[in-house]
Amino acid sequence: MDKTRIAVLVSGGGTNLQALIDAQKNGVLKSGEIVLVISNNAIAYALTRAAEAGIPALTVTKKDCGGQEPFEDALIAALEEHRIDLIVLAGFMSILSERFTSRFERRIINVHPSLIPSFCGKGFYGLKVHEAALAYGVKVTGATVHFVNEIPDGGRIILQKAVNILPDDTPQSLQKRVMERAEWVILPEAAELVSSQIQKEKEYRQ
Ligand code: GAR
Repeated sequence: MDKTRIAVLVSGGGTNLQALIDAQKNGVLKSGEIVLVISNNAIAYALTRAAEAGIPALTVTKKDCGGQEPFEDALIAALEEHRIDLIVLAGFMSILSERFTSRFERRIINVHPSLIPSFCGKGFYGLKVHEAALAYGVKVTGATVHFVNEIPDGGRIILQKAVNILPDDTPQSLQKRVMERAEWVILPEAAELVSSQIQKEKEYRQ
């Protein structure tokens, strides 16, 4: 059976991309295959991870394209050229418009470093999410993988995992624990869940 063709969109360090690559090696991700990595940052370390894993990678920036619409058009062209079935946003720090998200309905998933609906939406990304959780004083946080629609962090939730906050946590220590205990676990699991669903749908259509 043909595997679900996955593109992973990244902006930075790419530890979640690495978790997906590792999951593919150890069989957690078996219904899908990462066939493309797209970065919106030419110096993202994620690009080195893709190269080391032998996965084709591209850089597409809003600046080079000259705005949101041509940027999204360039993304769409690359995704179509590689016949992508599933788009995984793994630390992708650019909000996608409704024009883009509606084109790939239930075909885009994102990992967010909190338990949605807390500490999410516009302005909540990366370390800012953990700063906000510590400032509020919550005792439990975690990560969420959800489908992406036109509302930032507003699509249907696929998986969540909770992580305790410790008394001496800093945003950095909390970010590291949420990644290790939650994001790197549930992102590959969710990618497998959605990939196997898409694989079944493709099979049914044939
Ligand atoms: C991760 O913590 C991811 O959840 C977060 O950025 C980090 C990227 O790390 N994403 C967001 O905040 C999106 N709203 P990585 O590049 O090492 O995977």
